[in-house]
Amino acid sequence: MSRTHTSDDRAARIRDALDVDGYTVVENLKGQRHAIELLQDVGRFVPQYGGTVEHEVVYRPGNDDRAYSQSRNTIRAHTEAPGWSPSPRHLALYCHRQARCGGGRTDLLDLHVLCAHLTDEEHELMMRGTIAFPGPDADVGGTGPVTVPMISYDGERPVLRFSYNLLTAADYDAALDARPPVAQLPLGQAGMDLAHRVGELFERHRVQVLIPDGALLVWDNQRMLHARSEYADEARHLTRYWIAA
Ligand SMILES: [Fe+2]
Repeated sequence: MSRTHTSDDRAARIRDALDVDGYTVVENLKGQRHAIELLQDVGRFVPQYGGTVEHEVVYRPGNDDRAYSQSRNTIRAHTEAPGWSPSPRHLALYCHRQARCGGGRTDLLDLHVLCAHLTDEEHELMMRGTIAFPGPDADVGGTGPVTVPMISYDGERPVLRFSYNLLTAADYDAALDARPPVAQLPLGQAGMDLAHRVGELFERHRVQVLIPDGALLVWDNQRMLHARSEYADEARHLTRYWIAA
């Protein structure tokens, strides 16, 4: 008798892939509702910056001078919401329509790969250099900044927090021409140098994912850096979810 894959089977396979690889692309879905049902078996949806559990990643005019999800600009390596406590364990992007121009990739890099290439000094800065990561506003349940090193621990498990923009421009969604004085940066020149180095390693070792239409990308946000390449096609449309473990 042939075995029928239930939703529980698929959710279990997603959880296994997240444990092993840190990310997975889920295809052959029956639409966004199906993606939501699978994600509900992975964890609990949590409200995002605007207080809603869904954030539409689409181009909105007026954001062209910022590295922001609703611009078409490149967004450099980061983890999502590092100033939340805890930061979202998993992130997911459901793709309604991918950019047809070849841009708009979601790039990922595993912390284990990153650490294998950092020098001892760079690793030490990530383990010991404490940063006050700006947190959510009080009206969405905010508790102020989270002051931790970029690599902290939940028991034995490392928890990564990182923002290229915060280290180089003192702002998560930095203006493209932002050049604040080095003294205003969270870790000064050392943090700026580390960001550039992580950026180089990210570009060299990243996994590049162009999420197909109708598919879902899920990754462990406490383990994987992510970034977005610039794109031109204004019809690109994804929905983003934050998921607590
Ligand atoms: Fe992001």
